[in-house]
Amino acid sequence: MAARRYAAVVGWGKYVPQRVMTNDELATMVDTSDEWIRQRTGILERRIADLKEFTSTMAIRAARAALRVAALDPDRLDLIIVCTVTGDYPFPATASLVQDALGASHAGAFDLAAGCSGFIYGLSLASQMIAAGAYDNILVIGAETLSRIIDWSDRQTCVLFGDGAGAFVLQASDQPGGVISFTLGSDGSGADLLIMPGGGSRHPFNETTLANGMTKIRMNGREVFRFATRIMGRAAKEVIDRAGLDIDHVELFVPHQANLRIISTAAKFLGLPMDRVYVNLDRYGNTSAASVPIAVCEAVEEGRIKPGDHIVLVAFGAGLSWAAALIQWAVPPERRWPWWRRLLQWLRYRYARVKSFRQRVVRKLGSLWNRLLGRNGNMGNGAVRGQSGGGDTGWQT
Ligand code: UT7
Repeated sequence: MAARRYAAVVGWGKYVPQRVMTNDELATMVDTSDEWIRQRTGILERRIADLKEFTSTMAIRAARAALRVAALDPDRLDLIIVCTVTGDYPFPATASLVQDALGASHAGAFDLAAGCSGFIYGLSLASQMIAAGAYDNILVIGAETLSRIIDWSDRQTCVLFGDGAGAFVLQASDQPGGVISFTLGSDGSGADLLIMPGGGSRHPFNETTLANGMTKIRMNGREVFRFATRIMGRAAKEVIDRAGLDIDHVELFVPHQANLRIISTAAKFLGLPMDRVYVNLDRYGNTSAASVPIAVCEAVEEGRIKPGDHIVLVAFGAGLSWAAALIQWAVPPERRWPWWRRLLQWLRYRYARVKSFRQRVVRKLGSLWNRLLGRNGNMGNGAVRGQSGGGDTGWQT
């Protein structure tokens, strides 16, 4: 019988933009106050991408950090999943841009859109592909540039969101642990409660959708709040039960960082004291699919997650959707890259860029050449046809 395979988290990384936007700054833009935002959400500040930053560039930085921790050559990645609702383009997938920039030449790549629950959806999917034996190394990224779809005149939403990216490297292991259980859920009857109505096939991007603000986030905050307080604790309990554990086994609860009041309600439902709950929304606000991996990275950096710990991740968001996963934190083998390996990897990233550029140039020259040949061919065809009265391929012979 084949040995059971587990999906261990062996790498983690995050990136947040430099630019900090405080509540006071927001109060100069809309009718709000630092006091209101703190009391109702717990948020003090958030990060905003600068004009040269996109979802892909942030995702790439988080991915590189995660690969460094995992000491994994990007060439060994089998799959890249970017969980986002703010990809660089409607298509191609942002994951393909990440794959290209990393030089992950053997990896498949796709985006996954499940709102703020996206990262846990991606994590669950990746863990099952590894457990099934299909793949060995999968990069899962949550990355968002929400600042580009925020209505900066709507005080109900603009105070909540921020930008950033977080990434995990999942790897096949024969050691029990990693992603132990998960649950995914959806209630599409609440689709209109948190939505960007324009820009899709129903209301394509045009002057009307633009003028009506349909390409910005619209949210019924109260209803989403009610849904979130109901679902978060329940989803967390479900994954704990499925893993055959109880709440005392959970060392850290890492919830989606949307609102401190929602997080506290979930913790109360679970009977968890707040010192076993990780919160960093005060500094980043709600970064949607990036919030959970960023929070996990910071918890590890702060020594709040140790090898062997059981951590519960829970998120909710647009869909309406929800997801939870229970992870036993893996002990990554001691495989820190020495300085020369890090330098080599840096050079390889540069090379990946050059290679990508070369591919584009070759492709452009190729199509130019074909066009030229096509034109010549047509002329040739005509000439040959004129001579022989023969078929279209006559000129080639
Ligand atoms: O990833 C999922 C993303 N979404 C969420 O997580 C959202 C979940 N919902 C929430 O976090 C909360 O519902 C909010 C933070 C959005 C709002 O808090 P609330 O306590 O539910 O406020 P509310 O909507 O009941 O509004 C209370 C009052 C209203 O004024 P009136 O009608 O009582 O006069 C709002 O107009 O607060 C007003 N208000 C504000 N006041 C100052 C709403 N936004 C603001 C604001 N500053 N930014």
